[in-house]
Amino acid sequence: MKIKKAILTGGGHATRLHPITTTINKHLLPIANKPMIFHAIEKAVKAGVEEIFINTNPGDKDLQQHIGDGGHWGIKITFFEQTGGPQGIAHVVKEAEKFIGNDPFMFYLSDNILLGNLNEMFEEFTKNKYDCMLALSEVKDPERFGVPVFDKDNKLVDVLEKPENPPNNFAVTGIYLYGPKVFFQAFDHIERSARGEYEISSIHSYLLKQGKSVGAKEITGWWKDTGKIDDLLIANHLLLEKMDDKDFPNHGTIENGAQINGNVHVGRGSQISKDVVLKGPTIIGENCVLKNCIIGPCTSLGSGCDINGARIEDSIILDNAEIDTDLFIKDSIIGKNVKFTKKSSDDGRSMVIGDKTIIEH
Ligand code: G1P
Repeated sequence: MKIKKAILTGGGHATRLHPITTTINKHLLPIANKPMIFHAIEKAVKAGVEEIFINTNPGDKDLQQHIGDGGHWGIKITFFEQTGGPQGIAHVVKEAEKFIGNDPFMFYLSDNILLGNLNEMFEEFTKNKYDCMLALSEVKDPERFGVPVFDKDNKLVDVLEKPENPPNNFAVTGIYLYGPKVFFQAFDHIERSARGEYEISSIHSYLLKQGKSVGAKEITGWWKDTGKIDDLLIANHLLLEKMDDKDFPNHGTIENGAQINGNVHVGRGSQISKDVVLKGPTIIGENCVLKNCIIGPCTSLGSGCDINGARIEDSIILDNAEIDTDLFIKDSIIGKNVKFTKKSSDDGRSMVIGDKTIIEH
């Protein structure tokens, strides 16, 4: 039975990404200048998914406005609110039961970014008629994730959620496939964890203990859970590095004398002056004005940014940032409409800095 439906996450509080996520849904944060959740949608579509269901926090209309009805990808996308707000990711799936009915489906945590595609995993799931299939990835810090437990014959026997002493270095990634009804039958048997959530690992542990056939496959290429700022920057870096040359067209105006080294995409309406150096891989959004600055490598600049005098490397800059200073900015995320201005005299600096902002001086 081929998988044609997928549930994607779009809710949650994303406190680990504060302060950026106090004004923007985490799933809309740009990675390689594309909202995070677009990467997940594209992986699903490439694997053959035709209908996607995305959960949102109660009252959040932003996600829907940005994503639309799926026509852009030739599929159908439906949004649903998670009753009572976030209660664990297994609860997100339970809430989508009415859309899934008796069909097999994929559940995908939209903050998971991977390089490879999911086609082989889908094929293996269908061929082996698994009840459930998990995608694994080797990591340095398995205690942050769901971790598979194998017996001496290398057979998957359990999944532990964020164990203090992980038995191996594998993480169960946020990409899960389920056969008809399997998930919903298991959900009725799991309890909330100590942190008060319905954990996805409790579902898998239950299925394995019931003797269901649960397949596991190591993901090819790299995989990142972008739940933390560092990982978001690494994902941005890795995606930019792996993009094709054709993904870096120039639609802007570049003055003679400007230096462009490597793959650089310049968006429509952007103006690059002669004293600018752009180092690829780098993406400059639309309608940016760049003067006397060095941007890149591995930097994504949103639309409407105005940069003068700065050097920016390995960073994500959201829309309409105005940076008029000779700062060297590296490994940073800068939110929408942020202003950095230069002061000529050193008689104290005036700043408006939001909660939980990090400034390294
Ligand atoms: C969730 C799951 C965990 C999984 C991880 C993958 O953790 O609970 O089992 O390994 O996603 O991204 P969270 O990121 O919600 O802490």
